[in-house]
Amino acid sequence: MNFRPDDDDDSDDEIDPFKSAMLPPQLQEAAVTVDQENQLQNVEESKYYLASIASNLVIRQVPSEGISFQLWPAATTLVTLLDNLIRHPEIPTDGALSKLFETKDGNRPLRILELGSGTGLVGIAAAAVLGANVTVTDLPRVIPNLRFNIEANSEILKINGGEVIPAALSWGETGHMEALGRDYDLMLGSDLVYHDHLYAPLIETVKWFLLGNGGKELVFVMAHLKRWKKESAFFKMAKKLFDVQVIHTDPPLPGTRVGVVVYKFVGRGTFPNGNSELR
Ligand SMILES: C[S@@+](CC[C@H](N)C(=O)[O-])C[C@H]1O[C@@H](n2cnc3c(N)ncnc32)[C@H](O)[C@@H]1O
Repeated sequence: MNFRPDDDDDSDDEIDPFKSAMLPPQLQEAAVTVDQENQLQNVEESKYYLASIASNLVIRQVPSEGISFQLWPAATTLVTLLDNLIRHPEIPTDGALSKLFETKDGNRPLRILELGSGTGLVGIAAAAVLGANVTVTDLPRVIPNLRFNIEANSEILKINGGEVIPAALSWGETGHMEALGRDYDLMLGSDLVYHDHLYAPLIETVKWFLLGNGGKELVFVMAHLKRWKKESAFFKMAKKLFDVQVIHTDPPLPGTRVGVVVYKFVGRGTFPNGNSELR
């Protein structure tokens, strides 16, 4: 399926990130191989350069295994944003991003929870560039590939004081959420809004972490590439519960009218300036 922003066609069964948007230059495709040990077909290893720590992350994708095993454009936008913020702390961000990387309880490392991590690029990069303790989550069947990618980058994580832990989190599953708890400083996610039957469980999950936190100011930063008009239903649902602010917008992808947008979600009414902006 070709990328058709604002298309009314709701048949999103075959979203293909490689056809729908070009990958950014930081991501260098490596040769396609067959993983002998696991008998996986069409394994692809990509390198992602993190300028702030002058290191390459290596990420295994297995497109034949489905959506969860591929790297999506919003992930690379979010990683680039984090990397640039660490590299250029002098860049003014109008306060929207200034407190994101603050540990709320004392001197322990920043604790981050990522939803729908897929290949794990965002969580692994966040751990490496921020020296953070990151829990990457996804459906149970995705965990082995996440574990593989964490292990593949273990040396970079160690050098930079980051730690990444994989955990199953199916959106809306109370047992999974309770097992993880709410002791996080920041929540991240990229390209999570696509199938409409997932909007409600995703909202429930964000609500569980952001609004059930005993007043603790947990923020959810989500990168998103708009593909269908129907996605506005997700943001309408979100706006009833959270203040949603655009904190970054990429230029349109080549040949399209839209680029990846990064949103910040907090419990309603908690932005200091009272703004709630949503595009
Ligand atoms: C489009 S992919 C994005 C992956 C990754 N965040 C990225 O940007 O490259 C969506 C991710 O959401 C996960 N996902 C879909 N439904 C889910 C659910 N019900 N619970 C938890 N994760 C889910 C998928 O497994 C997949 O990894």
